[in-house]
Amino acid sequence: AAQADALKIGLILPMTGPFASTGRQIEAAARLWMAQNGAKVAGKTVELIVKDDAGVADTTRRLAQELVVNDKVVALAGFGLTPLALAAAPVATQGKTPLVVMAAATSSITEASPYIIRTSFTLPQAAIGIAEWAAKNKIKKAVTMVTDYGPGIDAEKFFVDRFLLNGGTVPEKLRTPLRSPDFAPVLQKVRDAQPDAVFVFLPSGQGAAFMKQFAERGLDKAGIKLIGTGDVVDDDILADMGDVALGVVTSHHYSAAHKSPANQKYVAAFQAANPKMRPNFMSVGGYDGMRVIYKALEATKGASGEALLAAMKGQIFESPRGQVLIDAQTRDIVQDIYIRRVEKVNGALYNVEFDAMKGVKDPGKNR
Ligand code: DHB
Repeated sequence: AAQADALKIGLILPMTGPFASTGRQIEAAARLWMAQNGAKVAGKTVELIVKDDAGVADTTRRLAQELVVNDKVVALAGFGLTPLALAAAPVATQGKTPLVVMAAATSSITEASPYIIRTSFTLPQAAIGIAEWAAKNKIKKAVTMVTDYGPGIDAEKFFVDRFLLNGGTVPEKLRTPLRSPDFAPVLQKVRDAQPDAVFVFLPSGQGAAFMKQFAERGLDKAGIKLIGTGDVVDDDILADMGDVALGVVTSHHYSAAHKSPANQKYVAAFQAANPKMRPNFMSVGGYDGMRVIYKALEATKGASGEALLAAMKGQIFESPRGQVLIDAQTRDIVQDIYIRRVEKVNGALYNVEFDAMKGVKDPGKNR
């Protein structure tokens, strides 16, 4: 039963629809955090209220409103896609309620409300690493293919700018729709352009369908290297992609294969609680988001509003992904970005990290 003096956290996620894998990963991670750290903070019971927005922005906004006004949550969290985070931002501002973005990754989201804190990543942060790697690894001509909305546009801009700066050329910039994309026509255009590589950003969950098409159209055999941010080879679906994924190089902030004792513990505990799943980068955004909320509640002895927000800013901790900072000024996450290659480890596909850029701030904040 709901307790009157409980500390309520409203977790809004796409639990159904095409982006349900994001919701499933984040909910599992949030529950893991609570199982490991207890449901009591500052002498009060923490109550996690999970709501399904099905990836529809109007629903996200209504649920956020209800959670703030009726349930009196101390924090809003989740937000599986950029339009969903942007829809809830005014609710956070009006209700003076901290809002923790655990998934969405367009740079500008943190500027939509002073109450937003982010524990996921930004596409500018992730895209520059692979642009640097490509330019140094015999890739002279690249075509881009991104989903036509916030994070895709960020990924395209920051990949292209850095790649051109390093002497590369980009003859084509292709975009696919967020809903029900058909990859066949764009892949034909990629093929016709005969680039050394295609840089891809797709939201988490769409990578499997894309890889299937990539292989069926023989692009791997045509000598076109697949590179991107890590979203396309998401750990949630990588194991089932087959050998077409072997050798794909991406830059990202998390791999389930990240070699640290903290991550090995995280992956083992996640899989013990969820035997059919491998934790992906979305899960880590959820797990770390719960940590940020818990530590802020501990520090303020269960305060809400401005005081809770202030206690979230500047937190430094070891995440399963590595050391991270919630930058007090931008409220965005500062983290290491790894360059990784898909390889078989004990017979299963993983993103194996082989290089890193340390302490990367969101490059999108200096525009
Ligand atoms: C966003 C969604 C994703 O699934 C992803 O991998 C990156 C960004 C977004 O909508 O912001």
